[in-house]
Amino acid sequence: MTHIITDTLKILQEADKEACETSRVSENEPISSKKRLFIESYGCQMNFSDSEIVASVMRDAGFATTSDANDADLIFLNTCAIRDNAEQKVRIRLQHLNAIKRRKPGLLIGVLGCMAERLKTKLLEEEKMVDIVTGPDAYRDLPRLVEEAETGQKAVNVFLSREETYADIAPVRLNSNGITAMISIMRGCDNMCSFCVVPYTRGRERSRDPKSILAEAQDLFEKGYKEVTLLGQNVDSYKWSINQENGEGSQVNFAQLLEMVASIHPDLRVRFSTSHPKDITDEVLYTIKKYENICNYIHLPAQSGNSRVLEIMNRTYTREWYMNRIDRIRDILGEDCGISSDMIAGFCSETEEEHRDSLSLMEYAQFDFGYMFIYSERPGTPAAKKYADDISPEVKQRRLTEIIAVQRRLSLERNQRAIGKVHKVLIEGTSKKSAEHLSGRNDQNKVIVFPREHYKPGTYVDVLVTECTSATLKGHAVSTVTV
Ligand code: SAH
Ligand code: SF4
Ligand code: F3S
Repeated sequence: MTHIITDTLKILQEADKEACETSRVSENEPISSKKRLFIESYGCQMNFSDSEIVASVMRDAGFATTSDANDADLIFLNTCAIRDNAEQKVRIRLQHLNAIKRRKPGLLIGVLGCMAERLKTKLLEEEKMVDIVTGPDAYRDLPRLVEEAETGQKAVNVFLSREETYADIAPVRLNSNGITAMISIMRGCDNMCSFCVVPYTRGRERSRDPKSILAEAQDLFEKGYKEVTLLGQNVDSYKWSINQENGEGSQVNFAQLLEMVASIHPDLRVRFSTSHPKDITDEVLYTIKKYENICNYIHLPAQSGNSRVLEIMNRTYTREWYMNRIDRIRDILGEDCGISSDMIAGFCSETEEEHRDSLSLMEYAQFDFGYMFIYSERPGTPAAKKYADDISPEVKQRRLTEIIAVQRRLSLERNQRAIGKVHKVLIEGTSKKSAEHLSGRNDQNKVIVFPREHYKPGTYVDVLVTECTSATLKGHAVSTVTV
């Protein structure tokens, strides 16, 4: 196994040099454009990462990005469709943008991403001021679509691809702190969880060429970035076949990809998201253990703690399976490994007892933090077709409140374990609450705030944690680890 990884690494590193050069040349090009693009992103990290691809495609077509919507010739909203309220947010924003459009007749508005893909041309009928509708796999076509819209026509491309990974496009980092960056390693999802719209909005799962992933990570590191997060809806099913010179193919799986990225430099931290409980392997856990710079933190969404509910959610694991994965994480990576989860309250036909199973699973897993949602029926999904959305809004809300209360207590308890210990922190910037304090994250993805003194963003520092809330750790620096 080790020799396969080493060989693969070598092949990939050769190719990296070329890819890095290409991205550097394009980044040094002067931006002589007069047209301005304002792009706003909603939803998950994948969507934010996609906006960086969009900015790159549009820059090559002569658009510079602006952070002021009033200053723009073109406005893109990169949208999310995961829950109804995500779509409502976009609709309200479109009303606001319409006011700008009335003042500025030539202004074009495009809706991109998952809501565009879900609603397709219906969106043009529902929201008259929208000029362009583009799905997540059609961003290369944006310059043509914009040209079409400039002639006064409505422009739509919602074609979903089985191959598109945008591997060759060097993202333009938007709102970047110059320290942490996201790298998309795959697209789409083949899982078909019954509640979820993602397989319909993002299409079939496909992995990105590891050469281009490594080239992007290497390039980021050379530009001074210190942390990359590898993104996919289900990173554990990452898979790439390499055709080696002798014609024999070898496969790169997620554990191997992690190892390759971690090998770029010990000062480059590696994170990843999202892991699926049915797919996360011991090999991945041992790889995390082996590399100090792969963070001890796993986002492992449970969704429910009850096996019957998990079955109708089509998550393809049981409560016991999930508990076993937690046990393996704690065995291999230790009690302090950070674990977070997503939980859905009030899925179709969920009983009080089944809801309490979610609460008890949270207690068992001792999640460090969690993202918690009320079930929102999405048109066209298997759950919408097969099961009644029969839990009342009041009951859903009450169950969510209980889930949040348990998580808040668990987060506090988990944070209290960090007190009295020294944590290696990558400093990301000034604390939101005080200019005299810096903020960064430790290995377990916990935010740590400490007095600025002479420390600088983009460096690692050892911080002794002395107090905490359920959201934040506080302490003071005890030494600089590396610069
Ligand atoms: N691929 C990831 C999650 C993607 S969506 C995974 O498999 O875990 C992010 C989260 O949104 C999900 O984990 C789920 O908790 C939540 N979610 C998805 N569809 C939802 C729906 N219809 N209603 C409420 N929450 C939903
Ligand atoms: Fe949705 Fe399930 Fe795929 Fe996650 S794994 S994106 S929840 S279908
Ligand atoms: Fe939303 Fe699409 Fe992400 S639906 S959560 S933006 S994949």
